[in-house]
Amino acid sequence: MDNYAVFRTPQTINYGRNSLEKLGNEAALSGKKALIISDKIMDTLGYVNSCRNYLSKENVENVVYLGVESEPTDKYVTEALELLKAEQCDFVISLGGGSCIDTAKAIAVLATNGGYIGDYMRGNKIAKEAAIPHIAIPTTAGTGSEATDVTVITNTSNDVKMMIKQPAFMPTVAIVDPLLTITSPQSVTAATGIDALSHAIEAYISRLSHPMTDMAALSGMKLIVNNLLKAYEDGENLDAREAMSLGALQAGMAFTNASVCLVHGMSRPIGALFHVPHGYSNAMLLPAVLEFSKDSSIDRLADLGRIFSPEANSKTNKEAAEIAVSSVRDLCLQLNIPNLSGFGIEKQPFESVVSKMANDALASGSPGNNPKVPTKLEIEELYHICFNYDFSTDNKVR
Ligand SMILES: NC(=O)c1ccc[n+]([C@@H]2O[C@H](COP(=O)([O-])OP(=O)(O)OC[C@H]3O[C@@H](n4cnc5c(N)ncnc54)[C@H](O)[C@@H]3O)[C@@H](O)[C@H]2O)c1
Ligand SMILES: [Fe+2]
Repeated sequence: MDNYAVFRTPQTINYGRNSLEKLGNEAALSGKKALIISDKIMDTLGYVNSCRNYLSKENVENVVYLGVESEPTDKYVTEALELLKAEQCDFVISLGGGSCIDTAKAIAVLATNGGYIGDYMRGNKIAKEAAIPHIAIPTTAGTGSEATDVTVITNTSNDVKMMIKQPAFMPTVAIVDPLLTITSPQSVTAATGIDALSHAIEAYISRLSHPMTDMAALSGMKLIVNNLLKAYEDGENLDAREAMSLGALQAGMAFTNASVCLVHGMSRPIGALFHVPHGYSNAMLLPAVLEFSKDSSIDRLADLGRIFSPEANSKTNKEAAEIAVSSVRDLCLQLNIPNLSGFGIEKQPFESVVSKMANDALASGSPGNNPKVPTKLEIEELYHICFNYDFSTDNKVR
């Protein structure tokens, strides 16, 4: 099969301001009793009640799990799965950031395929049975998890952020209502927005990219580059919030079908060991890793440079690719992204796990999709560079 490629998405994507109103109809098509996976912040903001009201109107029973307190662990998955079984729920609704959505994905698959979530890592166990229906409702413009067949769950016994990717994890329905992101605090807007940008860029430069993913990645990059700072500076700018939700969704559609690369491979171990929010750990790595990858992806990064700056149109591809890297660095600076040291990580504990992190990064498979495939030593060097990375100057990464 020459030029074979595959492009998976949820069965239905509802998108736009007030699209949450569609929840009742979608739920009635999905089952009789829902388990809502969310967190206490969503509850306090009144979002959980809004969802329950839409369900009541369609006579869909529901039970709520609010135990997602951080990026998801196997502990939340076990707890919520027990609740699903005890309450005989026949589908799940996730409401929140990627943490709630990823928890719900694991439950939807385990409900019909059984076992421990870690069993599904690297395809060791394949989910052959269809998952129970899952309606994903993101409240961050970030992960794009509502449209990916990926779930990231921390194994609490060895501190590994398990990246699991199989078709059964794809949500059945996504409801992407940008109005739900208005309450996102500045730091969450910055972190999740850079995560979305990393998805679009990594999907675009990935060795596994193809024309369908390029379409989504290019559109996602444009929307995010033109709107992230606006949403960060004025959280009530509805047009910017809407563009970010759409950009994050498209970036998710792109990377789930083209894969992420070195940034995500190196980012997960930092998140698992030092509890750095996922978007921040990506941002801390993104400029240095793009600099490392640049010479192997000049033409693609030139496209990104021309999205950032019209001046790049009159430059060579090599110059435009340099503009891409420096523009990403400037954006991180404007979003007040700290480096690893600035985040409060101590040098010695960090140094002592660099080798483990490089091994975990390589084992995830993501670095193998990078335009320049790194050695373990190169990954270790990048971790050292990023520890004290200065977002205000060129840090001369090889
Ligand atoms: N499955 C995928 O495809 C995929 C892709 C990228 C990242 N991830 C994973 O997603 C997780 C991160 O998700 P995230 O970046 O969306 O953050 P998150 O879900 O961890 O949320 C961060 C914080 O922001 C709060 N929050 C979320 N939306 C809010 C809103 N509208 N108003 C106020 N507060 C709000 C949450 O309650 C939480 O305290 C990580 O575990 C990461 O590994 C998954
Ligand atoms: Fe991500």
